[in-house]
Amino acid sequence: MTLGSAVRWDKIQGDPTYRQTFLSNFQTLTPEYELKMADTEPQQNQFAFNYSDAFVNWALANNKIVHGHTLVWGSYLPAWVTSRRWSRTQLTAIMKNHIQTEVAHFKGRIPEWDVVNEAFTDDGKLRQNIWAQDIGSSYIPLAFKYARAADPAARLCYNDYNAEVAGPHADAVYNLVKSLKAQGLIDCVGMQMHVRLPGYSEQALRTNWQRFAVLGVSVYVSEMDVDTTGFSGSAVQAQAAQADAYRRAALACNDVRCARFTTWGFSDASSWLGSAAAALPFDANYQAKPAWAALTSVLAP
Ligand code: XIL
Repeated sequence: MTLGSAVRWDKIQGDPTYRQTFLSNFQTLTPEYELKMADTEPQQNQFAFNYSDAFVNWALANNKIVHGHTLVWGSYLPAWVTSRRWSRTQLTAIMKNHIQTEVAHFKGRIPEWDVVNEAFTDDGKLRQNIWAQDIGSSYIPLAFKYARAADPAARLCYNDYNAEVAGPHADAVYNLVKSLKAQGLIDCVGMQMHVRLPGYSEQALRTNWQRFAVLGVSVYVSEMDVDTTGFSGSAVQAQAAQADAYRRAALACNDVRCARFTTWGFSDASSWLGSAAAALPFDANYQAKPAWAALTSVLAP
């Protein structure tokens, strides 16, 4: 199991304390947005990899594993994609070109990808993003097929939130993963773990994650943060409750021998939730919180 974090290239370049805190504590790196379609294909079939190349090459020079996030998502898309509707043939060709160009470009440097991100809603239905609307549900297996062809050695993941414990959303993800696994198209499932206090019980997480492990895919905790907004106790009590939420997730991760445990950022100062959520294992001054001790003391090496 490796400990990882979402990381921003502008902060790596501009903030020495951010850079050193990441380098000293984490083994894997998920670019927070630098590999998303709006950044890598800003104009149709005009790819921009200079920024992400510098980021990925820096990570490799520092012996970090890069987790590619994400090839097909309903958000963070360039305007040329979202500003019109497409025929199924047109958008399928666009998706294939995007996936195969990006995966081929990073082949040998990025060993695993979130191929499709957040494709289902909490009631277990297909999320009606532009890919679902203009291609249909087949966009998901097609995306994995294109990625597999572009880099047969890469580990291919499906990634989602609110599917961490039993329910219609988790069931939809499970059925998808089972189908993709039967086709030899998937290797990992990312459980994002964007949670609020008190968080989930170890048993609820383990019960759900175990069935994915039984399918033969690796479970990844892919984006954990624990939002403390609205907690009724003191800041010290909130940090203790937060540490317990991280601890239970780490224990469940050990239970199913998950391959990655990644937080979505590591310092409250640069959390996508804002610093007031105080959601991450390091505070805004890069001081380790009780959550960090909970993670590092529990997670198996
Ligand atoms: C977020 C980033 O943190 C933001 O900086 C960006 O503006 C939008 O995307 N689930 C995901 C991530 O899979 O890609 C999202 O990241 C957070 C929710």
